Amino acid sequence: MLTIPTIKELRHHLQKEKEAGKTIGFVPTMGYLHDGHISLVNKAKEETDVIVMSIFVNPLQFGPTEDLDKYPRDIERDKELARSAGVTYLFTPSVQEMYPKPMRTKVVVEQITEVLCGLSRPGHFDGVSTVVTKLFNIVQPDKAFFGQKDAQQVAVIEQMVEDMLMPVTIVSCPIYREADGLAMSSRNVYLSDEERSQALVLSQSLFVAKQMIDAGERDASCMIKKVRSIIEEAPLAVIDYAEMKKYPEMADVDQLVSNEKYVIALAVKFGQTRLIDNSWFQL
Ligand code: PAF
Repeated sequence: MLTIPTIKELRHHLQKEKEAGKTIGFVPTMGYLHDGHISLVNKAKEETDVIVMSIFVNPLQFGPTEDLDKYPRDIERDKELARSAGVTYLFTPSVQEMYPKPMRTKVVVEQITEVLCGLSRPGHFDGVSTVVTKLFNIVQPDKAFFGQKDAQQVAVIEQMVEDMLMPVTIVSCPIYREADGLAMSSRNVYLSDEERSQALVLSQSLFVAKQMIDAGERDASCMIKKVRSIIEEAPLAVIDYAEMKKYPEMADVDQLVSNEKYVIALAVKFGQTRLIDNSWFQL
């Protein structure tokens, strides 16, 4: 594995790989890698020849009161994990490399960014779609791999790629969970033992919602009421949102109907840590 901090050098290597007829798989991350990221690399290895992973904590997607400065970082550990997972090129640009001058351009995906995390984190998705556009332009991958834990992010990226005719295939990969159900996230490291054990209500509530759907429930508000009541059993949980949306439009839902795709999306704070989780359904 080569670790490359500059755009110029990465482009040079990837140009050679493309000339040799290799396909490029891309896994964009903000580092502090866990098994969820590794599962994206494994999927990329199944589908493409050369694996590029980026590690870049993107300031554009953090609000002024968010955790940019204390976002967990451990580049040496990440290098080891990326190397043993089979990453070919680890791209580790600095903020200066990615944003040498103040940006006067941003990529904005409308409507689907106006709910859920887009409401709670104003500007977040503009930062994501802008940096992902830059990263796609640097790497020019054949396929890019994203985790479904960020369901709204996947919808935003897919919409952006479709609208702007970006020549890349988006592959979304299932949520990776700890044995007890907690969705893997770099932010889990912030949780105290008590917060971590209470955070299990997220996956438990999604599991119960799935059981309700399997049992024939079709009323979205009834399911969300149940989901909220399970989360509220955890005294430390402060719900930011718990909603059912039609996927990928992220439109409101009243009654579930056949052949449509839905997502139950959760964002809940435990202490200072805001966790998200979700579950997708297709009737
Ligand atoms: O999902 C993430 O880790 C980030 O939002 C991404 C896609 C790497 C963009 O900074």
